[in-house]
Amino acid sequence: MRIGVFDSGVGGLTVVKSLLDSKLFREIIYFGDTARVPYGSKDKNTIIRYSLEAVEFFKNFDIELLVVACNTVSAHALPKMREEADFPVVGVIESGVLALQNSDLDKNEPILVIGTSATIGSGIYQNLLKQNGYTNIQAMPTGLFVPMVEEGIFKGEVLNSTMDFYFKNVKTEPHRVILGCTHFPMIGEEIKNYWENKPKLVHSGEAIMQYLKKIYPDLKEGETIIKFFASENPHNLKAVAKMWLGIESHN
Ligand code: DGL
Repeated sequence: MRIGVFDSGVGGLTVVKSLLDSKLFREIIYFGDTARVPYGSKDKNTIIRYSLEAVEFFKNFDIELLVVACNTVSAHALPKMREEADFPVVGVIESGVLALQNSDLDKNEPILVIGTSATIGSGIYQNLLKQNGYTNIQAMPTGLFVPMVEEGIFKGEVLNSTMDFYFKNVKTEPHRVILGCTHFPMIGEEIKNYWENKPKLVHSGEAIMQYLKKIYPDLKEGETIIKFFASENPHNLKAVAKMWLGIESHN
């Protein structure tokens, strides 16, 4: 199966890592809108407009599925993208909530959702969690983590004070943290270790993989070819993929 993966920039690489580890896809075409990242501080209309341009980009490849590896785009643009695309489009938010439902978490245990301003502001995680019976939800925009991850700051003083800055307002220690931004798995261990009870994390890449295995049960393991495209400086995207996750590009 040849699939497309779309993100506002480099964050979607954490999702690509899970897709590659599964070995279930013959070819992955990754497009990062590196010229216009971040999306998380932009308004809904802009996010939709940029995302529809990405759909046009993927029409040049014969893809059978588009994975939106960006929570911000998944929160705002999926319905419009589905209208325009001639291939199925899946996002990471519903599968994140599904992954939680498939876990051993009780409905009244505290959950913390973190993401960009656009994702948290959309209320989509909070609504889906409530609809599924979860009662103890805190949601918080933590947008500063995005440029920090892009700077390669994965631990240390600056990250610790940023976590203090955000998390000091959290009233109850979470039992689960939903990493509602695909950049955040790069600092996932630090986020987990911030809390005394070391909450489990929900990771968009792992969650979407669980979901895809269910809806495509016949996929067989094999080699995956991955090609990277970017709206600006594709060499940098390839270098980041190599440096962060050891992913080698085939183009
Ligand atoms: N990686 C994107 C997400 O999952 C956020 C980065 C951005 O602000 O564009 O929401």
